Amino acid sequence: MADTAVGAKTDPAHGEDPSRRDFIYIATMAVAAGGAAAIAWPFIDQMNPSADTRALASIEFDVTKVPEGQQVVVKWRGKPLFVRNRTKAEIAKAVADDGASMKDPEKDSARVKPGKSQWLIVGGNCTHLGCVPTFGGGEYGGWFCPCHGSVYDTSGRIRKGPAPKNLVVPEYAFLSDTKVKIG
Ligand code: FES
Repeated sequence: MADTAVGAKTDPAHGEDPSRRDFIYIATMAVAAGGAAAIAWPFIDQMNPSADTRALASIEFDVTKVPEGQQVVVKWRGKPLFVRNRTKAEIAKAVADDGASMKDPEKDSARVKPGKSQWLIVGGNCTHLGCVPTFGGGEYGGWFCPCHGSVYDTSGRIRKGPAPKNLVVPEYAFLSDTKVKIG
């Protein structure tokens, strides 16, 4: 006599309880997935940055190298970063426009550190397709991207053109009045 539990349904095609068959299938797949993860881990772990590389993720910069009204381009994580020493007029222009209609609204004060509004530190790549904008172009007194005509103001906020976002403000902190740690 067949050894079938009472109430169990038998798959007529294979003569086996389908719920039991599903369980075996799921258990096999779970073991296979666990094994794959265990094998993959050393390879994935290898791809994590070394301590040396992580240290390079932060840089320290002496802001006294940047005269008022000028900017220095610092290379950070392989990309340009603008460290700009803004004039009072540039700051006033940025603050006056805080309430203007913008694609990516942000107050100037949110883009600088309290008490250090002369220092604007922003990523040097246009948020459209990554070209490097030049300072002093466009009608907002900030940066102009020659690739497709994006115009940023003196706070690095996008004011015109195809770029969707403001120039990115990276994570940074002042270690002293003259030294900033970026990253
Ligand atoms: S990359 Fe700057 S406007 Fe297109």
